[in-house]
Amino acid sequence: MKNFTLFFPEKIFFGIKKLNDLKNIQIPGYKGILITGKNFAIKTGLIKKIKYILSDKKIVLFNEVEPEVSVETVDKAASFARQENIDFVIGLGGGSALDCAKSVAGIYKEKYSVKDYLDNKVKINKEPLFFIAIPTTAGTGSEVTKNAVLKYTEKNIKISLRSEKLIPKIVIADPELTLTMPPDITAYTGMDALCHAVESYFSISANSFTQILAKNAIKLIFDNLYIAYKNGKNIIARYNMLYASLLAGISFANAGLGAVHGISHPIGAVLNLQHGLVNAILLPFVLDFNKKAIKKDLKILESNLNCSLIQNIKNLNKKLKIPENFKLYNVSKEKIDYIISKMEFKTGSMSYNPIKMDEYKVRKILYRIF
Ligand SMILES: [Fe+2]
Repeated sequence: MKNFTLFFPEKIFFGIKKLNDLKNIQIPGYKGILITGKNFAIKTGLIKKIKYILSDKKIVLFNEVEPEVSVETVDKAASFARQENIDFVIGLGGGSALDCAKSVAGIYKEKYSVKDYLDNKVKINKEPLFFIAIPTTAGTGSEVTKNAVLKYTEKNIKISLRSEKLIPKIVIADPELTLTMPPDITAYTGMDALCHAVESYFSISANSFTQILAKNAIKLIFDNLYIAYKNGKNIIARYNMLYASLLAGISFANAGLGAVHGISHPIGAVLNLQHGLVNAILLPFVLDFNKKAIKKDLKILESNLNCSLIQNIKNLNKKLKIPENFKLYNVSKEKIDYIISKMEFKTGSMSYNPIKMDEYKVRKILYRIF
């Protein structure tokens, strides 16, 4: 028996055409900022649609979020928002756009640079602005988490802005918004969601509630990711993947992750590779490394899923054309040392791994994959 505390957004609107529910939300104030990526929301007409649904509000647009959002972009968006004197924030897009919007909502009232929070000079003390998260990919889980992953350019690292206050107030998860995701992004974000589910299932902070969510997410991803990858217009597969991503997101927001995420952030930053791709390659290796410590839970999970977990992940990676390892990137021993030097062992994802990690153990894993 384990005691636990759970954190959730205030309301989650999930399902087809749920974007229209925006008009039924009691949004405080009149003026809001819509934060999104450079092209997607304009190309798909989503900005127009959101402005139409919220026609009784004034919406200003910040559409400069890059695929891996940097601290400079967050600061730029926050000063633009302050200049416009806004009342609420809407984040629309993949993890990067949502993390940027989440950060802006969090730091808006205090007027510091986001770097001051990341350097632990200041804390988020004031209540963030009312924040609505609308994901257009199925994987990052950012819409339900209390952290935003940002690229700290000067330090060449990815780092999380963390606070319980950052959990979005409202989530609108509409599978129709994910229909235009290209196959590679579908694969990478879907494998990221699988990593969230698997890592949170075996996390040292997992509880029976988070494990139920994680187990269901794993099954949904095994059954639907390849279908969504092959046929992006399959709304049932898209629905199931967005649902799986939400379940996995709530699971890891409450149970933590593990060594895959601890190792993957510095690899992604150094090799400039997509987060989900790096995770997908790492997952079978880290599971194999953790095997001794997770034996009992793994057996229960595998009998529930009726499959071999590691083998199934390897098969799925192959079908999604994800490489087996990083050997094609020709990473030198010096670069591996540099990657390890950027890792956090005592805090963040690594601290939830079922085997306590240190430099020596990570090096053992990295020598197998590089
Ligand atoms: Fe992730």
